[in-house]
Formats: sequence, C-alpha cells, structure tokens
Amino acid sequence: MFSLSFGNICLEDQLTSLGILNAYQENLDKATQFAEQVAINGMPAFVRLLPGAPDMAPMMELASHISLKFTDLIVLGTGGSSLGAQAALALARFKNGPNTRIHTPDSLDAYEMDKLFRNLVPSNTHVLTISKSGTTGETLAQLLACRSWKETANPDGSLAEHFSFITEPGERALRTYGEALGSIILEHATDIGGRFSVLSNVGMLPVAVAGLSVSSFRSGAQKFCQTFIENPETSIAVIGAALIHTLNREKGVTQILTMPYAESLRAFTRWHCQLWAESVGKNGLGTTPIRAVGPVDQHSQLQLYLDGPDDKFYTIVTIPSYGKGPKIDAAEARKYGLDYMADRTIGDMVTCQSRATQDTLRKRGRTVREIVVDNVNEENLGGLFASFMLETIITAQLMGVNAYDQPAVEEGKKLTRTYLDDLTKG
Ligand code: PA5
Repeated sequence: MFSLSFGNICLEDQLTSLGILNAYQENLDKATQFAEQVAINGMPAFVRLLPGAPDMAPMMELASHISLKFTDLIVLGTGGSSLGAQAALALARFKNGPNTRIHTPDSLDAYEMDKLFRNLVPSNTHVLTISKSGTTGETLAQLLACRSWKETANPDGSLAEHFSFITEPGERALRTYGEALGSIILEHATDIGGRFSVLSNVGMLPVAVAGLSVSSFRSGAQKFCQTFIENPETSIAVIGAALIHTLNREKGVTQILTMPYAESLRAFTRWHCQLWAESVGKNGLGTTPIRAVGPVDQHSQLQLYLDGPDDKFYTIVTIPSYGKGPKIDAAEARKYGLDYMADRTIGDMVTCQSRATQDTLRKRGRTVREIVVDNVNEENLGGLFASFMLETIITAQLMGVNAYDQPAVEEGKKLTRTYLDDLTKG
C-alpha cells in the first residue's frame, strides 16, 4: 500500500504558520462531504472495475491471442487512450518472461513511424487501435498507415486477426473500419472518459499482453476505494484535493509538481499530467501540472523549485530504498575521497537525496507531501491510479468545474480538419 507524510511538522502546524488552517479545514469539510456523496451514490465507473468484471474474459482472450501469435504489438491511441497503458506497462520492465514487445507511438511523428516500420516485421506485428470517440485524426492516420504497411508485406492474406480495436458502441469511423476488416472490437465503456480509462480494457489489455496482472491492478484500486468509502476525511485523495485547492485560492499556488524517486513511475507522471490538465484547466481556472523524476531532475529543476517563485505544491513519491541495489565498495570509495559513499548502496543514496530535497523545500516554506509506496507493483499502482483520479474529480468539484469535458481542445481538433481540407483542395 502507500501512505501520506508531511515530514516532521504536522500538516496543521504548517498550515497555521501559513495562516490558512481555517480555509483548509473548510475545504476539507467540503471535499469530505463530496466524497461521502460519491460513496453513497456509487463510486465513479472508472474505479468500479472489479477483477472479475464481465470485460475480463474477452480482454484476456484477445491478450493471449496477441501474445501467442505475434512478437510485437503496436498500440495506436493518444492521450487517455495511451498514457494509462504506458504508465502501467512501465512495471513490465522488471518482469521476466516471453512477452510480446509493445510499442506505443502516441504522438504523430513521420520519422518515428518510418523508424518503427523499419524495425518491425509486419507479419509478426499486431495492431491494436484504441479511440473512445473513434474519430481522432492522429490515431486514424496511424491506423491507415499501418494497414498499408502490413498489406505491402502480405498482399493476399486476411488481416482480420492482425488488427483489433477498442472503441465505443455506435456509428463511428473506427468501428466501421474494424467491422469491415472482420477484426475483434472490444467495447470502450460509455461511462468512462478517455483520461479516466486506465483501469478499463483501454489500459488493461496492453497490461495483459505484457504478462502483468490485471486482477492485481484492479484489486489495488478496490482496496484504495474501500478506505476512501470508510474514512473519506483521512483519504489521501480528499486531503490532497482540499490542500491543493486551498493553496491555490489562498496562497497563489498555480503549479503542482509530481516527482517520484523511481524510474518505474516516470510514465505515471505523464499520465497524471494529462489527467490533471484536461480535467481542471477550465473557465480561466486551474493549476498547471509539472513532472520530474528524482534524483535526476534535482540537476535540472530543483534550483527553480527552491529559489524561484513560491507558487508550487510538491508531491514527492518514494519507495523504501535503504539497503537496496548494488553496494559501493568501501575501499574503492575511500581511495577517491568518497568516504560518505563507503559501504552504502545505490538505494541509500536515493533515499538520502529524496529526504534532503524534501527537507530543503520545507525549510524554504514550501508545502511538500510525501507519498510512500511500499513497493511499485500492480496492486499499488492500481491504488495510485484510483487515488490520483479521485483527487482530480474532488479538486474539480471544489473549483466548480466539470472534470470530465474538454471543450477547448475540441475547437483545435475542428480547425486541424479544416486546414487538412484546405491542403486537399490546394
Ligand atoms: O481524456 C480525453 O478525453 C482525451 O485525452 C482523449 O483520451 C484523447 O483525445 C483521445 O481521444 P479518443 O480516445 O477519442 O481517440
């Protein structure tokens, strides 16, 4: 599991010294009431997905078809149709096993697509296309390019089982395309938005192909929800939302940083950035998400965080690392005057660095929360997904904005199509 810490001084004392304890308590009450209401009305669909849900069987069947028959899987999709899977798949790096290699070209890039095609064998590659709307131009363009690439290598064979799709029911370009090919089409849940879809088949089908445990992701999320329902006022999601909203309103905090001291959570920060930005950035309101990974970004961003404007809230995610990893030879270290490293492990150094960063930030009066994850595995990552998604919708509620839409992005999408039409007309 994971737990919350605010360092040696309790949160209430820190907020008292900032003069915002009362405002925080009011927001905590509002956030708790909302969380209670959510629990009474039924948790949102994006966290209601159980290990034994009806979507499991078709998903696992397709996953085993892909991993048995193909050496490579290209997952086409962008934004919420890709970032969750990427965050979850980061765990697969640490698993042994005969996994299908998974490629997630989530941004449209001519050179990257050429490179991908050059490096893969078309007949050994399955293409899974994910789009809730079934109309996203980037994803459809990639799909058409993949089809031509595969047809060139296999002009006469049926391609039905080389492609699969996840999209919503109803008439939409992607579904029509998948039906014409005769491929398997899984349903994108209609009550789950793109950026909230990581625990649905959107994030979990690639997870299953990678040999990770879908059930563990979902049961981790369920466990988190259980504590959320039982004790909302002490839930990390509720406290986080109340704190961020208070700091924004009372102290001009306009940016939120998420900085795990774990490479395996690097992709998680990309997922979270999208979730947060598209959900809370509305009507002239919102806080800008920033991402960093420790210790490396201590050498690129920390100067700004310590000495730049006091306009950020910091989330440091740590995993217990004392005594972990390779050990540094004492004699070798001493020979070069590096006595402080003698007999220490790489994990010792990471732990001390994250502590030092937090303490220095706190000494400068910055508000820092530490989320301590006891182990980065499927269950804990499932819990973190649930926690960060719930925190996002509670923050949006406190701000008075709709977490689930993205009206401004839709304008840009329409304009891109107009420009492409203009190109065609010459
Ligand atoms: O969260 C969202 O709704 C968006 O980021 C979408 O996931 C993204 O635009 C892709 O949309 P679609 O899945 O319809 O292709």
